[in-house]
Amino acid sequence: MVAARDARRPLRGVFVTGTGTEVGKTVVAAAIARTLAVGGARVAVFKPAVSGLDGGGEPDHALLRRASGSTQPDDGIVPYRYGPPLSPHLAAELAGERIDPRRLVRAARAAASGAEQLVCEGAGGLMVPLTPGYLIRDLARELGLPVVIAASPGLGAINHTLLTLEAARAVGLEVSSVVLTPWPDDPSAMERSNRDAIERLGAVSTGVLPRFDLEAADSWPTLRPGE
Ligand SMILES: Nc1ncnc2c1ncn2[C@@H]1O[C@H](COP(=O)(O)OP(=O)(O)OP(=O)(O)O)[C@@H](O)[C@H]1O
Ligand SMILES: [Mg+2]
Repeated sequence: MVAARDARRPLRGVFVTGTGTEVGKTVVAAAIARTLAVGGARVAVFKPAVSGLDGGGEPDHALLRRASGSTQPDDGIVPYRYGPPLSPHLAAELAGERIDPRRLVRAARAAASGAEQLVCEGAGGLMVPLTPGYLIRDLARELGLPVVIAASPGLGAINHTLLTLEAARAVGLEVSSVVLTPWPDDPSAMERSNRDAIERLGAVSTGVLPRFDLEAADSWPTLRPGE
């Protein structure tokens, strides 16, 4: 009975997606997680799948754990981990397995059960397949968390961001905000204009994240979901 009740309980937190890959999702999710943790919340982090681990560097789940102060094991943060830099559905296929959406939802709920806030990072953008027929967007819907969209502020930002907003709203996802990152100290006329156009045409609030040193956690800017 307890398990059944838990499975229906709404999650608290945020689902960070982006206009694509390498647009700042991890940085935005990390800044939100750290802001919540510094504010006193117990924060858990989650990512359905990570690929490209062969490339070295600090993987997304390690940075998210560091940002949140959580002690979750790798498996509790990201159930599926792959070496080659490929879409998760293909990375899984090449590893001889298939991502199980039910396992993802269970794992996200298990992560959330030990915390007051769950900060999820997607993989790639909203339309990235986790299985041949189950997209990141489907997972965001199932988790029922409000979405934050990370985007680069430069050329292409308006189109990519508006497309992502349409894809989110088409299935009823609530979009908290768009975060432009890294936001320059001295933004150009184009970057400022892009921000205005996204707010106006997308009917969404925008936040910005200045460039910061990921190694120096004490210097990270605050970023609240919805800002
Ligand atoms: N505000 C910022 N401060 C410092 N670096 C930033 C900032 N925003 C983006 N970056 C840099 O941009 C790059 C991509 O960011 P990030 O890894 O967060 O993207 P991602 O969307 O999570 O990528 P992936 O699709 O691989 O998960 C990284 O090198 C990151 O350090
Ligand atoms: Mg990332």
